[in-house]
Amino acid sequence: MAYRDLRDYLKVVESKGLLHRIRVEVDPVLEISAVTNRVSKGPKGGKALFFEKVKGSDYPVVTNIFGSFERMCLALETGRLDDIAARITDLMTQAPPKTLLEKLSILPKLLEFSSFLPKTVKDAPCQEIIEKDDPDLGRFPILKCWPGDGQATDEGRFITLPMVFTRDPETGSPNCGMYRVHVYDKNTTGMHWHIHKDGARHFDRHKALKQRMPVAIAVGSDPAVIYAATAPMPEAIDEMLFAGFLRRAPVEMVKCITSGISVPANSELVIEGHIDPEETRLEGPFGDHTGFYSHAGCYPVFHVTCITHRKDLVYPATIVGKPPMEDCYMAKATERIFLPLMRLDFPEIKDINLPMEGVFHNCCLISIKKSYPGHAKKIIHGLWGMGQMMFSKLLIVVDDDVDVQDIPYTAWRVLNNVDWKRDMVIADGPLDDLDHAANFPRYGSKMGIDATRKSREEGMTREWPQELSMSGDIALLVKKRWKEYGFPD
Ligand SMILES: Cc1cc2nc3c(=O)[nH]c(=O)nc-3n(C[C@H](O)[C@H](O)[C@H](O)COP(=O)(O)O)c2cc1C
Repeated sequence: MAYRDLRDYLKVVESKGLLHRIRVEVDPVLEISAVTNRVSKGPKGGKALFFEKVKGSDYPVVTNIFGSFERMCLALETGRLDDIAARITDLMTQAPPKTLLEKLSILPKLLEFSSFLPKTVKDAPCQEIIEKDDPDLGRFPILKCWPGDGQATDEGRFITLPMVFTRDPETGSPNCGMYRVHVYDKNTTGMHWHIHKDGARHFDRHKALKQRMPVAIAVGSDPAVIYAATAPMPEAIDEMLFAGFLRRAPVEMVKCITSGISVPANSELVIEGHIDPEETRLEGPFGDHTGFYSHAGCYPVFHVTCITHRKDLVYPATIVGKPPMEDCYMAKATERIFLPLMRLDFPEIKDINLPMEGVFHNCCLISIKKSYPGHAKKIIHGLWGMGQMMFSKLLIVVDDDVDVQDIPYTAWRVLNNVDWKRDMVIADGPLDDLDHAANFPRYGSKMGIDATRKSREEGMTREWPQELSMSGDIALLVKKRWKEYGFPD
């Protein structure tokens, strides 16, 4: 059964002993962030945190709701993240039906998929309270996360777990992306969609048409919907359809009060408004996923026209910073779920691993079934051309007998198997907006390493050596006699 909303999920998390309630009053300025950061660094990502009394607001705050493998699986209602990948593979690997019987046999699959389409409803919990006359963001427990967040002219508060809904002005197709929201004052914010993202593309189209852009920011929904806002979906696929697939039930959507944008009906808080395509303002700095402050930059300005919310709203937030943090677990879900989509273009990919220390885009380990000279280099160039994989600063390709989830073993194979001049690819290209190391924003160099076994055609003039392993009979003998040698089992 899909979670009805955020609080339904929190109930389950609490019933499993995975939520810690903090009953004393806490400050949304830095204190909640400091507590969350410390808990996130604990064993297995710590617990979700429910701050019941927040200084200056009537509403509680919840953080770290996705911050462990266990909660990430619970959020997406799966025993293992790989099981979602298997569902996607099953959906995509249907061979074209030839006979009538085969055609009939795929009907249930198609019917099931169509049942995940978002549904429009009229009455929505997120519109229990409607504030149109004097909408004021100051009433909500919006956090300041790190001391250097924001400009001297504002309080440095950011909405950190928002779902930003926009629409293509030409086709009407919707998008939902998670882009942090810098609060400038009671009814003005920044809109931090990076230029590579779908929200920015919708913005560019409004700008070209000289049209004001309606936007709605929803905060708090059932966890599959929140996660879907972060998923690197192709522009043509609605994140709410993907959320429906994840939760195996359609997402109920409701029209905003002041625009035609639709938002999840079960949201805790919805901020409606618009962007004038010609207006920009300095956004940031912000203590970011990388563990460093991302620089301030010019971004569009969002004007709030209406705020709607649930009577007893629960405000969810995330704190990002030096890994491991909650966002690392969301990235791990993406790594697992998107592997089958990568395999559509590159069936030779066996597995991938984006280590948490690489904060999503800085490093990706890939194992492949190598079939021809230069195969690993094809994968490197191919992945740099694939959606948000273009941000990967380091791609390391190994043979399929390497388990890339085993980082020490992979490192050993890579460090011993590489001739750097022969096996390294360095290329210039787009970089993630958050990269602070390149000479220019959003543009710089990236590296690919081909750490697969090399053939003569690839320039290797010597025999590739054999990896050490003990002969089977001796290994068995030693196993049998282990106790005899005086070791415990
Ligand atoms: C907690 C969190 C915060 C994020 N903040 C931003 C942000 O401020 N700007 C941005 O462009 N992407 C941000 N992202 C990444 C996007 O959500 C992600 O790239 C997503 O796929 C974008 O959706 P889109 O492809 O529909 O544009 C964030 C991700 C997470 C998990």
